[in-house]
Amino acid sequence: VQDGYGVKGMVDLGLSKVPAPYIQPPKERIDKQNSRMCPLQPIDLSKLDGPEHDRVAEEIVRAASTLGFFQVVNHGMPIELLEKLKDTAHMFFGQAPEKKAVYRKGASPSPLVKYGTSFVPEKEKALEWKDYISMTYTDDVEALQQWPQECKEVLLEYLKTSVMMVRKLLEVLMENLGVKPDNSKIDALIGSKMVNMNFYPTCPDPELTVGVGRHSDMGALTVLLQDGIGGLYVKVEDDIENVGKKGEWMEIPPVDGAIVINVGDALQIISNGTYKSAEHRVRTTSTKSRVSIPVFTMPKPSEKIGPLPELVERDGARFRELVFQDYINNFFSNAHDGKNSLHFAQ
Ligand code: SIN
Ligand code: FE2
Repeated sequence: VQDGYGVKGMVDLGLSKVPAPYIQPPKERIDKQNSRMCPLQPIDLSKLDGPEHDRVAEEIVRAASTLGFFQVVNHGMPIELLEKLKDTAHMFFGQAPEKKAVYRKGASPSPLVKYGTSFVPEKEKALEWKDYISMTYTDDVEALQQWPQECKEVLLEYLKTSVMMVRKLLEVLMENLGVKPDNSKIDALIGSKMVNMNFYPTCPDPELTVGVGRHSDMGALTVLLQDGIGGLYVKVEDDIENVGKKGEWMEIPPVDGAIVINVGDALQIISNGTYKSAEHRVRTTSTKSRVSIPVFTMPKPSEKIGPLPELVERDGARFRELVFQDYINNFFSNAHDGKNSLHFAQ
């Protein structure tokens, strides 16, 4: 990490075996042979604005309250933009280590932009097979001043459309809770954002490693662009009719032009458990490197979050109130460990 080599640098030097620090304990390894593709069809977001609004809204609500993951198409992002975005990710990580090292923690021109590898290496029993560059921001234009020059323009459009899409989805999800989805409520949920470009280099033995370990996301909704390689697995928390069985891991199939959406812990908390932040992880592959670009929307660190009062009145509080900064601190001070991060709010 120190020198910007990352996992990619290590792989580029030539590797025939997985180095010991990256070997996962057997229970964390991903069994590709025994897992199915998630059968859910992508949701056509453009139909939210037409006569089929109610049916589409119901599909969104159903997915968010069961699996916690779904895919959307006709979301307003041109396919060329998505292709370009994936290319820029490959371009960034394809650079010489010195170029990437500029953004590593401590050296980066901005404390909000960070290049790194794995998740919290100092806390992990086994390292994750992943390099990333990430940026936390509230104002996208301002934030992008510190972002690598070559990836700015497309990223900005992606960020803007992602947030618009999240607002639309949150309106539907709030409405279903019987809560008036006014702007201030939505602003409070997504006052802060983070975008990552993730790079998963090829791995000599994918059976032994993980790209990302089991975790749920911190925030409200995550918008994720994945490429055609595949490897994103989601855990079915409880039996879901026509989808999967409790405890089963399913792969979210890459669909050209589709965007993956998933529920994070903050939305599970404020919805008093109605929406499920799904546990997920990423497998590595031996043939081609994979990129993914998630946008995380979440409350501002100073925001107090807890189940919405309307819901507490009805069902009693299933989570405690907390300052989101405390949640963030807890999240980033532990290795990925399933939905353990959510227990912090119980
Ligand atoms: C993540 O959940 O951290 C990454 C997801 C992905 O790369 O598909
Ligand atoms: Fe995630």
